[in-house]
Amino acid sequence: MPEYPDPPDVSANTNAFKTLASAVYLHRLPSYGNSIFYGLGFLALTSLALLVLSGTMLAFMGAHWWLYSPYGIYVRSVHLWSVQAFLAILILHLLVGFFTSGFRKPRRMVWVFGALIFTLAIFQTEFGYGLRGDFSSQFRAVSGADFWNGARLGYWLNPLSHLQEFALHVAIIPLAILLLFVLHYLLVHTYGISKPRRVDTPYRMVDANHRIMWTRGAFLAVAVLVLAFFFHSPYVPATTIAGVAQTDPGLASSTLANEYARTSDTATYLDSIDPYLFDTRQVFVIAPYEALTGASAATTSDAMVSALIPALTDGTYEAYLDASDPAPYTYSLRFLSDLGVLEARAGTLGFATDQWGMAKDENGHWFLNLPPGSWWMTPLGIMNSSFNLLNNDNGDEIAAYSFAFILFLFIVFPYLPVLNRLPELFPVGRWIQRDRTLE
Ligand code: HEM
Repeated sequence: MPEYPDPPDVSANTNAFKTLASAVYLHRLPSYGNSIFYGLGFLALTSLALLVLSGTMLAFMGAHWWLYSPYGIYVRSVHLWSVQAFLAILILHLLVGFFTSGFRKPRRMVWVFGALIFTLAIFQTEFGYGLRGDFSSQFRAVSGADFWNGARLGYWLNPLSHLQEFALHVAIIPLAILLLFVLHYLLVHTYGISKPRRVDTPYRMVDANHRIMWTRGAFLAVAVLVLAFFFHSPYVPATTIAGVAQTDPGLASSTLANEYARTSDTATYLDSIDPYLFDTRQVFVIAPYEALTGASAATTSDAMVSALIPALTDGTYEAYLDASDPAPYTYSLRFLSDLGVLEARAGTLGFATDQWGMAKDENGHWFLNLPPGSWWMTPLGIMNSSFNLLNNDNGDEIAAYSFAFILFLFIVFPYLPVLNRLPELFPVGRWIQRDRTLE
């Protein structure tokens, strides 16, 4: 049995906050532990704190505030810039862990917890974009639903449901990330920063420099606050059924007729799983006809379609769909998708792909405009265009499984023989861990 020390005698004047800080800090590090390379974990935590703070304000104040009030737009922009910082820093942080082989025994689970955080963070960004409430959200929701359906998870995961996106983005995923971070850091705290892999690499143990750590954190926070002030999170007004019906009543009628005939995309939707189990005739034609006209269903579909057009044009039809939807805005988004207008508008705006609208932002660039779009989804875009998956009937499924496989390898990487020795081929780790004061 290991022997554990008795708790120390604590003076009555001990400051609780200093005690907590002292318990949480790393105190002794290899000399390279004070460099920026090992400060990235704290910077990731700083971005996470900014995300939680700004996100809490957004959730409290609501969509109208974050879309139209100048303060709301600013806080939304802080949130978006914090995401940019979080992901960029995480990628650098994991590269440091990779090249220095910081994931070796006994730190393998440090990597696994970190990689799980990274995976969750990527999905978290898509659900966040989905909540914004503009055109980007609509297109991402519809494209995302195709992706999840392709992965055979559509029955459980429906990005068209605003409630589900809210629960995932505001509660479930952030709590999971925080929990994983605690586990990640508890291990780092217990084991300390890893020593150089090669025993002949010289290093000294030194005191941790907490002042420089906090200074870097403050610098990052100021950079995010300033960038958010000058470069706002984008907003492209949402597409409405009323807007489409006003400009193209013919399209509105033919789409209603298709819904009635059960020949629309939604009615015939068959990916690997069919999550749109509702009857389009009932949901899109008969129920709104009865509710909005007060009459019982007419004998001909043409009569009902004509009677519904004024409601489509003045917005009452969409309001009715949303109010009658057990998972809003599934009905209205599917109807917009059946109208074909989301895809067409995304094409005009230069969104990245027909199906996975997540690889570029609403400005049509992933990097050239500020704030940049979701550049972290670029591998998915590359996979899509390299293998021409969009023209493949099983494209969604292939993309989802390939993506899942890559993420799986990434998460269990420290346990993969041969592959986990890959970093030893590069001199980068030695360069990061060089003790410059010994030279
Ligand atoms: C919320 C996200 C994360 C936070 C806040 C975080 C925080 C930290 C902190 C504070 C440390 C100790 C100092 C340092 O190396 O910076 C650390 C170490 C480490 N992290 Fe993370 N981390 C996160 C995500 C990740 C990810 C995504 C990975 C890799 C997939 C990862 C892998 C590692 C490894 C391997 C170490 C040990 C480094 C060593 O001992 O040499 N972390 N992390």
